[in-house]
Amino acid sequence: MSGFVSLVGAGPGDPELLTVRAVDRLRRADLVLYDALVEEDLLALAPNAKRFYVGKRAGRHSIDQEGIHKLMVRAAQRGERVVRLKCGDPFVLGRGGEEALALEAAGVAYEVVPGLSSAIAAPALAGIPVTHRGLSAGFAVLSGHAESAWVPVLSSLAPGSLTLVVLMGLRTRGSLASSLIERGWAATTPAAVVLGASHAGSTRWLGTLATLGDADVDSDLAGIIVVGDVVSLATQIVNEHAVPEPAAVRLS
Ligand SMILES: C[S@@+](CC[C@H](N)C(=O)[O-])C[C@H]1O[C@@H](n2cnc3c(N)ncnc32)[C@H](O)[C@@H]1O
Repeated sequence: MSGFVSLVGAGPGDPELLTVRAVDRLRRADLVLYDALVEEDLLALAPNAKRFYVGKRAGRHSIDQEGIHKLMVRAAQRGERVVRLKCGDPFVLGRGGEEALALEAAGVAYEVVPGLSSAIAAPALAGIPVTHRGLSAGFAVLSGHAESAWVPVLSSLAPGSLTLVVLMGLRTRGSLASSLIERGWAATTPAAVVLGASHAGSTRWLGTLATLGDADVDSDLAGIIVVGDVVSLATQIVNEHAVPEPAAVRLS
């Protein structure tokens, strides 16, 4: 008997923002391997599954990327239906591509179930359209984790030419903002930080590139940075269902 692996995008956190396919795979799973930022609420949708945390956030026991590959492959070879549950979309800054390649190399049957990336969901929930006629015709998503990753991208962009969405950039936001200003972006360019999008208690900071570095936000939380004129719309677009309501209908 051969098993199957589903690389599933969990979206930004609220179970109502899962895809129908993600819910189906969770319901039928024998094993769920989940990351940091995946909510307990989502795991409840896999009542028959063994669940293992394999995230990499500081302070929590975990395993390395190779170990995750081995767990998936071995479970599938035992005939289990495995859900590899990753926050947002599996192929957006989440090493989902590496996991697909490892499954491919091992000859394990698998699928990719796209999820709602925080790169789009977090701005939307905070009232920020990443594109808007007359303000921005496109957006770039980049990792703020290491300068070596974002400097080449920033160098290739004309200042103010599109919306920037930065994941994993809260700790580096000061140097990111300085880098943009050095490259000709106006210091007055609107900027936002959205923390814990779709979670109860989600917060939003609004300012400019000049004030982003000193923004009073907790860098240990999950958050994205948005830079560009579209951020100015955030005070006009009020998203009524940005965070889950206690009375909301739940998928369970
Ligand atoms: C390893 S990356 C994975 C991104 C994920 N694959 C996606 O498409 O959203 C983790 C980063 O995603 C962002 N993130 C994930 N969930 C978030 C949320 N609910 N609110 C704000 N940012 C979030 C944060 O920047 C966090 O550091």
